[in-house]
Amino acid sequence: MSNPLIEARGIGKTYRMGSGTVPVLSGIDLTIAPGDFLTICGASGSGKSTLLQILGGLQRPDSGELLWRGEATRGWSRARIAAWRGRQVGFVFQSYQLLPEFSAVENVDLPAVIRGEGDREASLALLRGFGLAERAEHRPNELSGGEQQRVALARALRNRPSLILADEPTGSLDRETGREILRYLTERVARPEFASSALVVVTHDPEIAALGARRVVVEGGKLRET
Ligand SMILES: Nc1ncnc2c1ncn2[C@@H]1O[C@H](COP(=O)(O)OP(=O)(O)OP(=O)(O)O)[C@@H](O)[C@H]1O
Ligand SMILES: [Mg+2]
Repeated sequence: MSNPLIEARGIGKTYRMGSGTVPVLSGIDLTIAPGDFLTICGASGSGKSTLLQILGGLQRPDSGELLWRGEATRGWSRARIAAWRGRQVGFVFQSYQLLPEFSAVENVDLPAVIRGEGDREASLALLRGFGLAERAEHRPNELSGGEQQRVALARALRNRPSLILADEPTGSLDRETGREILRYLTERVARPEFASSALVVVTHDPEIAALGARRVVVEGGKLRET
């Protein structure tokens, strides 16, 4: 096995709600290597999104350790995490989360612009690859759900992240469109430029879960690899 990309060791997370607490994850161990395609299933509320957000640096765990290419991330500043996320992580959400004021191509280019490497032509080429050449100037509200999710895929992949995290990327779409989105995602990530990237997909859909070369279930705050 190649050196791990990211390693979760004994990750725990409890949300505090007023005077009460919601324990969600406890003692999660997970190692993800370059080239992995992992799917995560589990009941609603089991903590799948929480786990994905911790892996992607959108939340910090309150116990355990997260290692990035063998380096402990515990001491990283917010700025360091933000820079790491911008460079290394591509996130796809169920609800697309495109910026409404920007065109499709501007949304795709944004992660590169933030790094000072904006390149509209490169973003157009990416959109073209997702079958959206004719929609580049459309705003999100002028696109169908499936088209918005394709824009979101292009944006997530724009910086060629080594860790691609998708949280129910087909959850807002009909079955057929959802499968199409998954196909776009997996075909793109199968290309040589993503050979050392890992793809993690959270899904309720057993057929999508079955696509993963590795499959895990979140249950009772723990992970079970199936
Ligand atoms: N910010 C928060 N504050 C308090 N509780 C939260 C917060 N976010 C999530 N929770 C709770 O933590 C638990 C896990 O939530 P999470 O969103 O990770 O589940 P999930 O497995 O992704 O569910 P779903 O399949 O419905 O998306 C739920 O009980 C939820 O209510
Ligand atoms: Mg969720």
